[in-house]
Amino acid sequence: MSPVPRPRRSVLYMPGANARALEKARSLACDGIIIDLEDAVAPEAKPDARVLVAQALEAGGFGHREVVVRVNGTDTPWFEDDLAALARAAAKGAGPDAVLIPKVATPEALFVVARRLDALGAPASLKLWAMIETPLAVLKAGEIALAARDPAIRLTALVLGTNDLSKETGARIVPGRAPMLGWLSHCVLAARAGGIDVLDGVWNGFRDMEGFTRECHEAAELGFDGKTLIHPTQIEPCNAAFTPPEEAVAEARRVIELFDRPENAAKGVLQIEGRMYERMHADIARKTVALVETIAARG
Ligand code: COA
Ligand code: MG
Repeated sequence: MSPVPRPRRSVLYMPGANARALEKARSLACDGIIIDLEDAVAPEAKPDARVLVAQALEAGGFGHREVVVRVNGTDTPWFEDDLAALARAAAKGAGPDAVLIPKVATPEALFVVARRLDALGAPASLKLWAMIETPLAVLKAGEIALAARDPAIRLTALVLGTNDLSKETGARIVPGRAPMLGWLSHCVLAARAGGIDVLDGVWNGFRDMEGFTRECHEAAELGFDGKTLIHPTQIEPCNAAFTPPEEAVAEARRVIELFDRPENAAKGVLQIEGRMYERMHADIARKTVALVETIAARG
């Protein structure tokens, strides 16, 4: 969780080869977009998609939306060219906010990518996000996230790849996700230990809004900052699930106001209507208020 909260409630994937989707993204209510050069682009379409994405970045117009590009894996023939194109764009001030690296399995892999970005002249403002989508990555999530303590690694978020995890492990994707719950929680814990954000995986059945909405609320309860999405219809329910509800914001404001009173300056614990509040609750309350104020300020 960053000190000045950057809302990452809803982050929409779109194929880098899909010009229409890239155009639409400029007016959608998502907090961020992930322009995909990896799984969502066929091998023969990769070079053209890379050019299209560079043009879209140059054209800009994404407003408050955080722009992330998912490159092909470090062990593929496209990785070097993908990274070079993004580093070039970033050096011209037309880069994405972050590069999402697929199939990260160790902190060393991120270290190598970060060094490569340095060598390519990418400014420090170009961050890295890491896909956690293999069994080894889940096992090593703590080490991977802790690498973020070194700013040279550029790491600011983990993104769960639940489809790949299901494929690699045999764990089925079922309502409530009991087979994966331990891994999901473990990744939230890892991200927090490293002081970074963490986004949940996608919900494939984009016409099933009821199931999707339930999963968004479950993800918010688990502590995720937001969820990755595949279709524009998923944005609104996702934003709603990850936005603190009005009552929670009102309560947060009451807690802050109470602890800020001069007569309470020396107190560590207070009560409001039979409920205990410690200073840690005031800290949480300040984060809640800061998040909703950032969202509101964007209009
Ligand atoms: N981003 C931006 N716009 C999108 C979009 C996305 N991910 N998915 C759909 N849209 C747009 C379509 O362009 C269409 O716009 P239009 O009617 O104004 O032209 C509108 O939303 C409705 O789309 P719809 O017809 O319901 O879906 P589709 O058949 O065009 O696309 C998918 C369905 C699944 C192929 C598409 O949603 C998609 O590509 N999703 C992302 C896949 C991806 O990136 N996966 C990799 C990571 S998991
Ligand atoms: Mg994947």
